[in-house]
Amino acid sequence: MAGSTWKYQVFFLFCLILHSQLPFPSSLSSSFSSMPPCSALLHFSKSFSLVKDASLSRASYPKTASWREDKHCCTWDGVECDQNTSHMVGLDLSSSWLMGHIHSNNALFFLPNLRRLNLADNWFNHSLIPSEIGNFKSLTHLNLSDSGISGQIPFEISQLSSLVSLDLSKNGY
Ligand SMILES: *[C@@H]1O[C@H](CO)[C@@H](O)[C@H](O)[C@H]1NC(C)=O
Ligand SMILES: *[C@@H]1O[C@H](CO)[C@@H](O)[C@H](O)[C@H]1NC(C)=O
Ligand SMILES: *[C@@H]1O[C@H](CO)[C@@H](O)[C@H](O)[C@H]1NC(C)=O
Repeated sequence: MAGSTWKYQVFFLFCLILHSQLPFPSSLSSSFSSMPPCSALLHFSKSFSLVKDASLSRASYPKTASWREDKHCCTWDGVECDQNTSHMVGLDLSSSWLMGHIHSNNALFFLPNLRRLNLADNWFNHSLIPSEIGNFKSLTHLNLSDSGISGQIPFEISQLSSLVSLDLSKNGY
């Protein structure tokens, strides 16, 4: 009957929309672990919109806008690599107009050699700090000040044994 066909079509459309809104299929998130660091970083940057109002500092500018795939990511603005190992050890995207949610399966969490992470003065839309922050075993400096994160601070932060500086100020807890 025409009526039930119509209902099925609406149901299918609904499933399609629901499916397309899931953050990432888990198979994709596990594939990040084998992703080259530059690709993971690019993936991370593309998960945000660049919106000037997301940063309050007068000196803010969108650092990721100048990132080019044909250049090695160690040359990108805000990226610091160890000269000997060429491991990515620092990421400073403070005041970089980043707006959007940080999800727990974000490619960022597959950059395990990070020692310094600064995402201060952006707007992460009341995201929770994912417990995957515990993946950064070498993290010494973490700055998420004034970045629109909220909710409980994950227990895993207490297990970052190399941490010497933690700034979670100016967020809505
Ligand atoms: C790189 O290696 C040289 C020689 O072993 C060492 O003196 C230097 O401190 C190292 N640099 C870094 C950033 O680890
Ligand atoms: C964290 O970043 C903010 C904004 O850039 C800066 O004012 C603050 O001094 C930083 N915190 C630490 C501990 O360096
Ligand atoms: C994030 O927050 C801003 C400001 O409240 C809002 O305009 C934007 O739509 C939000 N983005 C998402 C992905 O929820």
